[in-house]
Amino acid sequence: MHNFLEIDDLSCDELEEVISLSTAPPVELDGALSGRGVALVFEKPSARTRSSTELAVFALGGHPVYVQGAEVGIDVRETAEDVARTLACYHAVICARVVDHERLVRMTKALSVAGVAVPVVNLLSDLAHPCQALADILTLRQVFGDLGGRTIAYIGDANNVWRSLSLAASMAGVRVRTASPEGYGPDADDLERVVRLGGDIEVTDHPAEAAAGADVLYTDVWTSMGQEDEVEMRRKAFAGFTVDEDLLSRASPDAVVLHCLPAHRGEEISASVIDGPRSRVWQQAANRMHAMRGLLAWVVRAVDRESTTAGEGH
Ligand code: CP
Ligand code: NVA
Repeated sequence: MHNFLEIDDLSCDELEEVISLSTAPPVELDGALSGRGVALVFEKPSARTRSSTELAVFALGGHPVYVQGAEVGIDVRETAEDVARTLACYHAVICARVVDHERLVRMTKALSVAGVAVPVVNLLSDLAHPCQALADILTLRQVFGDLGGRTIAYIGDANNVWRSLSLAASMAGVRVRTASPEGYGPDADDLERVVRLGGDIEVTDHPAEAAAGADVLYTDVWTSMGQEDEVEMRRKAFAGFTVDEDLLSRASPDAVVLHCLPAHRGEEISASVIDGPRSRVWQQAANRMHAMRGLLAWVVRAVDRESTTAGEGH
């Protein structure tokens, strides 16, 4: 089953197929979801993911149904397994933004055990944000063309966005340098996973070292959703890790700046950089919709192909 909980659920070739579908003329994808529902469960807020996914579903001829986390109450009103089984009765794909990644895993297991061919797509969890990483790769392709040999310097928290980005970059042949304060960098498992994909990754606690000559400076909030209690502690820990003009001047002269958004100007990024000429954050945000269209078209086509093959086998 073609679930999409993390970017490396795709092979490198499949990632290329998704990126290529993201830029395919809409007419080529028209009807991929014709007459079918897509559930969009959100346990956390969203400005970009909800709107872009709803419109991507609509562009493919499907019907998005937004479901607030509190409304279904995963593991409160009923189990993650029962929520998944229920939504799969109506929808061709279940997309969910969850507090705890394990809920997505349990949903996929419940559907798999039941033999239900409805894929689950991660719209952000505490561990991963693979739909964001698709849009990031798409944006970098538009900016640079071939990505082989390019370097992304990620400055900040080795969080969900960092994890999916590092894996995606490695799959696309992009080097990753990560600069995080002590205690907020990648752990050994993260690094091993990147290396298993053939990734070239360096870790430092000096932003200037990471930024030197880089083609891309990337950052994300210091305090992710669900970590609000740590905001003051994190502000102190991340002092000196702002992507500002000084850091940008150390990167390649053609470097671009990405941020998944929402941004906090004056914390992880200065206003002059995010609103300046090297910033590509609005192109990146717009690409969330194109990448989502490509992903959903790819996922439903893969499921349809598999069910046809299974039918032929009987
Ligand atoms: N980048 C991103 O996922 O934004 P939202 O949280 O607003 O959806
Ligand atoms: N790391 C951030 C990303 C928001 C899109 C969070 O999880 O809140």
